[in-house]
Amino acid sequence: MLKIISVVGARPNFMKVAPLHRAFAAHAERVRHMICHTGQHYDEKMSKIFFEDLELPQPDIYLGVGSGSHAEQTARVMVEFEKVLREEQPDLVIVVGDVNSTLACSVTASKLKIPVAHVEAGLRSFDRDMPEEINRLVTDVLSDYLFVTEQAGIDNLRREGIPDEKVFFTGHVMIDSLAYYREKAALSDALARFDVLPKAFTLVTLHRPSNVDVKENLEKILSLFESIQSDTRFIFPVHPRTRARIAEFGLAERFDAISSLTLCDPIGYLDFLKLMDNAALILTDSGGIQEESTWLGVPCITLRENTERPITAEIGTNEVVGLDIPLAVEKSRAALNGSAKEGNIPELWDGRAAERIVAILLEKFQV
Ligand code: UD1
Repeated sequence: MLKIISVVGARPNFMKVAPLHRAFAAHAERVRHMICHTGQHYDEKMSKIFFEDLELPQPDIYLGVGSGSHAEQTARVMVEFEKVLREEQPDLVIVVGDVNSTLACSVTASKLKIPVAHVEAGLRSFDRDMPEEINRLVTDVLSDYLFVTEQAGIDNLRREGIPDEKVFFTGHVMIDSLAYYREKAALSDALARFDVLPKAFTLVTLHRPSNVDVKENLEKILSLFESIQSDTRFIFPVHPRTRARIAEFGLAERFDAISSLTLCDPIGYLDFLKLMDNAALILTDSGGIQEESTWLGVPCITLRENTERPITAEIGTNEVVGLDIPLAVEKSRAALNGSAKEGNIPELWDGRAAERIVAILLEKFQV
């Protein structure tokens, strides 16, 4: 019996592990799949609601590390995860995405000579000011199985000298969740609760340190909302980091003064999917939302200088504008007037990535 531990830590991890858990459950006689939650995200609205919405079982292991500086958080995960690995002795550790928990667990497992699989490998922004870029580089160099979502990932890994035999183009587990839950999300009453009509609002998310931890940058983004406030209604579920900075920088009054903008707490997976699917436009600095909007065919304007997910801009609905606010205003107005760029769905984003990954692992481990 193969014993596998998948690691989740932060909000964008949960919807990536859920389809893997389902795919492993179909082989329960051969694999014991355990979920370890590091506790990097711990608020009900950043964590628990996702377990409910995604029908994930309670984590088998909870490390409870909480917030801290990068070194503190990473170190706490490593110390606790090492104990888990010594106790459980899994055959494989699966890490997803690029958060601090991903880095911490891949380092810990590889030092104990436990094989590591990285799901969503190979993505590069080529911007080491992003903590996630460092997490991606380290995780990939240590991983034994690298599951890639788009061609750029294969190219990047090859350029970095990762042997082809370790790299598998399997599509995207996050899209598996989107495909699986879209119908259920359609039943959410989120539009009524926010009092908006389909395709008549802009959905906003912002949490990148480069945008929200720098006052001038957050003010620039605020000026974008002010410029288009009479063109659209906004719904803006606010990440705890962003909530804290708005208060600290004394910007709450300027946000409140935009009468068409509704700020709210972070929202669960199904409600958020309903909002994405029905938005006229998405303004974001998230990685995953660039991909989700491409799959849903919803116009997305990314308020970042670069993207590690270039397929979304090359063939999808994504437009990466950085903090060029005049350009963001122009592109937003175009999308709100129904003349956004058209998009296509990337190869293998078909809802079956987790099945492919599980089939590859079962074959490799010969169980
Ligand atoms: C983390 C990930 C980022 C991901 C994001 C999604 C890293 C380096 N960053 O960033 O890649 O896109 O999650 O949300 O791993 N906080 C709470 N409650 C929580 C969690 C956080 O209040 O449940 C607050 C704390 O003040 C904390 C701050 O948010 O210090 C930042 O949390 P942290 O996990 O360090 O990073 P994120 O910005 O969430």
